[in-house]
Amino acid sequence: MAEREVIGVVGGGQMGSGIAQLAIVAGLHVLLYDSDSEALARATNSISASISRLVAKGHLSQPAGDNAMKNLKCIQNLEEFRAADVIIEAIVESEDVKKKLFSELDKIAKVSAILASNTSSISITRLASVTTRPSQVIGMHFMNPPPIMKLSEIIRGADTSDEVYVTIKSLAERLGKTVICSQDYPGFIVNRILMPMINEAFYTLYTGVATKEDIDTGMKLGTNHPMGPLELADFIGLDVCLSIMKVLHEGLGDKYSPCPLLVQYVDAGRFGRKKGIGVYLYQ
Ligand code: CAA
Ligand code: NAD
Repeated sequence: MAEREVIGVVGGGQMGSGIAQLAIVAGLHVLLYDSDSEALARATNSISASISRLVAKGHLSQPAGDNAMKNLKCIQNLEEFRAADVIIEAIVESEDVKKKLFSELDKIAKVSAILASNTSSISITRLASVTTRPSQVIGMHFMNPPPIMKLSEIIRGADTSDEVYVTIKSLAERLGKTVICSQDYPGFIVNRILMPMINEAFYTLYTGVATKEDIDTGMKLGTNHPMGPLELADFIGLDVCLSIMKVLHEGLGDKYSPCPLLVQYVDAGRFGRKKGIGVYLYQ
């Protein structure tokens, strides 16, 4: 693994900042980039606060926490990813925006570098198709919040090589994750199953079957989920949920049509916790 020590992370939102945190705590060097400089500043603050919490709770020694922060470098220019061995993309869930980025990264990254995507649903094969290195493009899907959730879902595109799969699997394991492997179909494994449940929770609310509180309590206490589906949707981001549903709908048919209430909330800018309002209001 000596040659896979520098990790680039593109996107400093909730997933990118969590992935960067995981990697620096594991002793890897991280270059973190976001096109929005304020998002990058927020990411640094949230990683620093999270590491201080881990130190305060005794999960990490003070020197280990200090070293972790030293492993983080925020960069202002994509060109600096030239130094990275693996670049993990965690930007907005849009195929067009991701393709543009992959095409740029392909020109910048060293020939041996692996380009990984944290996409929730978008085809890895199609992202790989805009690069000159499709065998080195792979899905590396962390769950939210990345420092806590134990899973990494790895998605092989049509041309992903066995060597790249093995390298990314061992990287995920180094970050403490249990790995599952999915073929490249819309939503892969986890979101193929989770997102229709969340969408159905929206339909249950939309059609007046029950209140949001009863829907969430029903699924929390009735099926032992840590969060109800509407609360979880707010946590994931309603914008992200809608983008995933659109990929499922386009790829798998009308059974996966996004609920009009979910569409309306996103139209209204009610993206969930990150905006202070989604299904619920956050103070
Ligand atoms: N970094 C490090 N540690 C963190 C952290 C972070 N960002 N956030 C929380 N923690 C730690 C806390 O310090 C705490 O540690 P201790 O137990 O040692 O004190 C522990 O995690 C639990 O935190 P809290 O007590 O604050 O919160 P909680 O017990 O209510 O759990 C939760 C929070 C883990 C998010 C839990 O509610 C949960 O599991 N929710 C469901 C999450 C889920 O389903 N995620 C998957 C979404 S789907 C997805 O991600 C795929 C996709 O593509 C959309
Ligand atoms: P987010 O909105 O919190 O963050 C996205 C970040 O990407 C923002 O800071 C934005 O400024 C930045 N960005 C957008 N376009 C960019 C570009 N062209 N170049 C550089 N930075 C850019 O989103 P998120 O929830 O962190 O999701 C990021 C990715 O992770 C998405 O593909 C999403 O589907 C996936 N994902 C999300 C979750 C979740 O629960 N939210 C879970 C697993 C995977």
